Amino acid sequence: MRDNGAIAVFGATGQQGGAVVDALLARRARVRALVRTPESDRAQALAARGVELAAVRIDDPASTVAALEAVDAFYFMTPEADNLEEVEEEVRVGAALVDAAAAARVPHVVFNSVFGADRFTGVPHHDSKHRIEEHLKKSGLRATMVRPAAFMENFATVMAPSLEDGTIVVRMPLPDDVPLKMVSIKDIGRVAAALLLGTADVPGGAVEVVGDEPTGPRIAAAFGAHAGLPSRYEALPLSVLRNDLDEAMFRQFAESSESPADLAAVKAVEPDVLDLAGWIRSTGWTAPADRARS
Ligand SMILES: NC(=O)c1ccc[n+]([C@@H]2O[C@H](COP(=O)([O-])OP(=O)(O)OC[C@H]3O[C@@H](n4cnc5c(N)ncnc54)[C@H](OP(=O)(O)O)[C@@H]3O)[C@@H](O)[C@H]2O)c1
Repeated sequence: MRDNGAIAVFGATGQQGGAVVDALLARRARVRALVRTPESDRAQALAARGVELAAVRIDDPASTVAALEAVDAFYFMTPEADNLEEVEEEVRVGAALVDAAAAARVPHVVFNSVFGADRFTGVPHHDSKHRIEEHLKKSGLRATMVRPAAFMENFATVMAPSLEDGTIVVRMPLPDDVPLKMVSIKDIGRVAAALLLGTADVPGGAVEVVGDEPTGPRIAAAFGAHAGLPSRYEALPLSVLRNDLDEAMFRQFAESSESPADLAAVKAVEPDVLDLAGWIRSTGWTAPADRARS
């Protein structure tokens, strides 16, 4: 590593990149955020915490190469894709960032990929990450793949449990007996930060980041236990999903559940990785208003 160089972060104003910045700052690292809108509230909030801002435009490679000059390491994620056009855009963004890192001769690149992206799985917004991983491998750069499972934070938003007639209810398009691999975004940040700072290494240059893998009934029970209430899980059909990409993803979740996660590999990097019960406690989650009684 070059002495006291910065760690560059793409996506710092978002969820995962934000968690990486939090973990890096907690370890007193110098952080440079590559942002498209330095004047945005989120970018300015980073600047107020001591993060350097570098303005980049993906379609202006010189801006990205300049932002990566003399950094010790570079973390990047790629934006959400909801359709096939956005999947191609995601690959374009990822490949452009890899090319810029190669041009700037960055010593170590950490790519925030996704669970299972070591191969093509038929899930378009995961296969995009596999293509970026392959591009990164071919670049000759020293690279580490951080492959997170589903975010536990989804249970605070799109998959939030409800309270119905005094019972906590969790519904997902996943059969009762299928474990769902999941991790907290905070832990993705901690794992990536340890790899960026070189305080941890992972065998084979990749780590599947999972903190827990409970089935639907166990997920419901974890929320119920926290609230001191009974719980119920209801498996929904795949047809409830908003698009084909998510349908392919939930099919893949069921397939990948056949091989258990390597929790020991994650704990070797982040010993305190949260399981679902720990994540629920850490958020201070409380049961929502009762639908049946409101
Ligand atoms: N949801 C899950 O359970 C899950 C699990 C594993 C992996 N993933 C993957 O995680 C990714 C999403 O991560 P996230 O939730 O951390 O994203 P996010 O919160 O939506 O943040 C996206 C970040 O990317 C930046 N960005 C997007 N396009 C840009 C561009 N053209 N130039 C510069 N910056 C750009 C945004 O900056 P601005 O502030 O300027 O917008 C923001 O910082 C997706 O690829 C998804 O497939 C999701």
